[in-house]
Amino acid sequence: MDIKLKKINAISGVIEVPADKSITHRAVILSSLAEGNSVIRNYLSSDDCNRTIEAFRQMGAEIKIDKSNLYIKGIGLKLPKPQNNRYNIYAGNSGTTTRLLAGILAGQDFETVITGDDSLSKRPMRRIIDPLSEMGAKIKSENGLLPLTIKGHTHLKSVNYVNNKSSGQVKSAVLFAGLYADGITTYTEPVKSRDHSERMLKAFGADIRIDENSVTICPTGKLIPQDITVPGDISSAAFFIAAALIVPGSNLMIKNVGVNPTRDGFLEILKRMGADVTLTNMREVSHEPVCDIIVKYSKLKAANIDAYLVPRMVDEIPIFVLVATQAEGITRVSGAKELRVKESDRIHAVASQFKKLGAQVESLEDGFIINGWGGIKFTGTLLDSFEDHRIAMTLAIASLIAGGETVIKDSNCVDVSFPGFYEILRDICK
Ligand code: S3P
Repeated sequence: MDIKLKKINAISGVIEVPADKSITHRAVILSSLAEGNSVIRNYLSSDDCNRTIEAFRQMGAEIKIDKSNLYIKGIGLKLPKPQNNRYNIYAGNSGTTTRLLAGILAGQDFETVITGDDSLSKRPMRRIIDPLSEMGAKIKSENGLLPLTIKGHTHLKSVNYVNNKSSGQVKSAVLFAGLYADGITTYTEPVKSRDHSERMLKAFGADIRIDENSVTICPTGKLIPQDITVPGDISSAAFFIAAALIVPGSNLMIKNVGVNPTRDGFLEILKRMGADVTLTNMREVSHEPVCDIIVKYSKLKAANIDAYLVPRMVDEIPIFVLVATQAEGITRVSGAKELRVKESDRIHAVASQFKKLGAQVESLEDGFIINGWGGIKFTGTLLDSFEDHRIAMTLAIASLIAGGETVIKDSNCVDVSFPGFYEILRDICK
């Protein structure tokens, strides 16, 4: 489906964004593995999270949906054997479903085949195959790509795994497998990636220790069910924060947003750029920091992003590039090569589509150079989302400052993380 969007006058209003995708995946996984009844309040019902829900239903968890809550009767850490000793799981577009589930499946005494859509079938899986194989799982792949055939082992070997890249998904896979290991498993990474798994594992009663960029987990007999409330997703809020910053005269409040310090790189860089962004009503909900965010249109100056900041805003870089086009000065984004293997090659997608709008964005192997001098004007045109939810949303926000009409191809892919995105956008555009 294509969508047509027009230049607007301002953004204003009070909104909430849907629940956090990363936290919802983890809450579904750990609740399904706990012994007893858990509740997940305000879960994210998006295509990606629904893949994880369906996978655990298939593997025996009872998952009931009542409005925006999930009621899960967990099955315990040992999942029931399937008929013919094999489950077939379809993960759709979801890298998180695939990689996190692989960690659990590595510790089971049956075989699972994971497949996905065209985009997921091109994404690298060696990053989880290597540590999980070292722990004793037998994993077959198509040269490191899907389909994955995982033959688990109920007594995995504990490992001391040092990843040379930061990754919340790889860390989670190793820690989840560590629940089934014969000793202490340690995972270390260069910069701390999102730590929702660690926070939640602790809440579910796992024996876990965090030491800067290392996490240690001991095998756990059982997980204790929890009542979890999921906050709004900072990665979804980022699109509207950007919109309010770049459309003159805007003033927006976004309530109930998770601001975990491993996810707040976008807010940090905006502060350095001189953005008028205020965090209020700071509180803790289900072991995660949460607040309301007030954003006003701001005159911005350029600020660079390097490999140290990337893990804290890895999903926000496409929308950051848009903000940088409106800042005064030259912005350099480096250390972001991972963007090449996301739902699309996001470096190519962003650079090619922004050029069509008239922006001066040059792609690098690991990032971008953005020339924001002189407040370059955008002109609406036909743009391609590459069927990538975050590219579609970035282009939709860019269209708000583009003269004339912008058409975005395959715009409905936003449902992967943000169903209702265009409806909220319509409500706040004046
Ligand atoms: C995620 C981790 C990140 C992120 C993805 C979700 C997670 O991926 O880009 O959208 O929930 O752990 P990497 O682990 O590949 O950095």
